[in-house]
Order: sequence, then C-alpha cells, then structure tokens
Amino acid sequence: MSNQYAGITEYYDLWVTSGYYNYQSIAKEIHSIVGNGSQVLELGVGTGLLAEKYIEIDPNCKFTGIDFSPSMLEIAKKRLGNRVSLIEADAATLDLNATFDVAISNGGVWGILNLGDRWEFGGHIPGVEDNRQGLSNLGRHLREDSLLLLHLQKPHESYVKHLSEGIIYSQFIQEVEDTADYHTFQKNYFFKKDGEILAQEQIMITCFKPDISRKILSESGFAFHGTSDGDHFAIYKRR
Ligand SMILES: C[S@@+](CC[C@H](N)C(=O)[O-])C[C@H]1O[C@@H](n2cnc3c(N)ncnc32)[C@H](O)[C@@H]1O
Repeated sequence: MSNQYAGITEYYDLWVTSGYYNYQSIAKEIHSIVGNGSQVLELGVGTGLLAEKYIEIDPNCKFTGIDFSPSMLEIAKKRLGNRVSLIEADAATLDLNATFDVAISNGGVWGILNLGDRWEFGGHIPGVEDNRQGLSNLGRHLREDSLLLLHLQKPHESYVKHLSEGIIYSQFIQEVEDTADYHTFQKNYFFKKDGEILAQEQIMITCFKPDISRKILSESGFAFHGTSDGDHFAIYKRR
C-alpha cells in the first residue's frame, strides 16, 4: 500500500515535535469546539501525539484513532496504551461499527490546502471517486450535525532543518501532475546524520481544484461551517 509512513516512523516524533506542530495548542483548539466528553475519531492518528494531548485535556472523552500504517500505530499503542482505541484501517474503506460526535484530521488522511485566494480539499487518497467514497463512508460514522475538522494547511515547501543529536531533516516538494480537476505533488522526506541517510519516505498528496473540492465535500454530505478560532482547522458539518 502506498503513502504509508513506514520508512520514517522511527524519526517522525523527533521531527514533528521540533517546531512543526504544537500539539498542545491544536488539542486545545479542537476541545474548544468539541467540548467535554465527546466521542472523537482521529483520521490518521499516526504515533498518537495529538491524541495524547487531547485526552490530557479531556480525560472523559472517548477517543478513537485509525491509521493504515502499522509502524505508526505501534508507537501510538506504546504511547497511549488502552486510554485510546486504536484501529488499523484505511479511511478510504472505513467500516467501524461505531458513530462519533466529531472526526478530525491533523496532517492526517485529509486536509485543506490554503492557497490564500482559494482552498483545495485533498490529502493522502488519490482520485475523485475514492475520496468521495471515503468521505461518504465517514459520514455513516458521524451523527447528523456532527463535525469534521480538517487541518487548514499552508502550501508545502522544501526546506532543511537541524534537529537534535546531529540529525538533519529535509523535505523536498515536487509537483507531479496538474490536471483540470486536481494536482498532485510528491513529498520526499529525509533524515540524515554525518551525510548518511538514516531514513526516507515518499508520500504523494492529491489536491482537488476548488470547484471539485466543493463538489466532493458537498456530494458526500459535508457543508462548510467556518474555521476554528486559531485557524488551524476548517470545520464541516455533516448534513
Ligand atoms: C503526517 S501523519 C499525521 C499523524 C498525526 N495526525 C499527527 O498529527 O501527528 C499522517 C498519517 O495519516 C495516515 N494515513 C494516510 N492515509 C491514510 C488512510 N487512507 N487511511 C488511514 N490512515 C492514513 C498515515 O499512515 C500517517 O500515519
């Protein structure tokens, strides 16, 4: 299966906790929308860093995380034990016997690319139909009027960053395809030390042009509802 994070799992936490994400503030932003005691579904829970902060803020919530990368889930399980329900599943074909008050994706399965004058829905799943199907499946896991919070992301850029212990992180973005409906780009991740590659991964991201984005979301039953206070999320409501 493509777009899994197996190649860089070992270094993922070091990178994202070195200034890439502030999980504490993201968790607070979610909680301010969702409130106490909710049933939360994280799409692409990864190593569980956001889940950990969220359940610290609201120990009474019922938090479920799904992910299709076994290596990422393994770290999440070590981190969270049985405080969270962790399930290996592909969001494109989600079929859990459960319903939730809110679904969130932070750099996970789906997101919204904020290009200033326009927004593009997209993420790790390629193809209009698979995304529509995935979102419709998700809709069946959400109660009426419940929310979908999609990370509002700035355009991805190529850069190099020094992490601790002499490890150097770099990401290179390469445009791959640009069609009337969508564009795709490859995100190449590298972790190096003393000139040697410690770990690498290649992820393909698909972003749909604004009209198609609106169509996919609306035909899957999601209506735009605003943005979160810190503008980290675009909020959609399940009709
Ligand atoms: C960049 S990580 C983000 C992890 C976590 N949300 C965080 O904030 O650190 C993206 C995660 O989404 C998962 N993912 C991507 N596509 C997926 C899919 N179709 N179904 C389930 N998980 C998926 C990947 O395996 C990876 O763990």
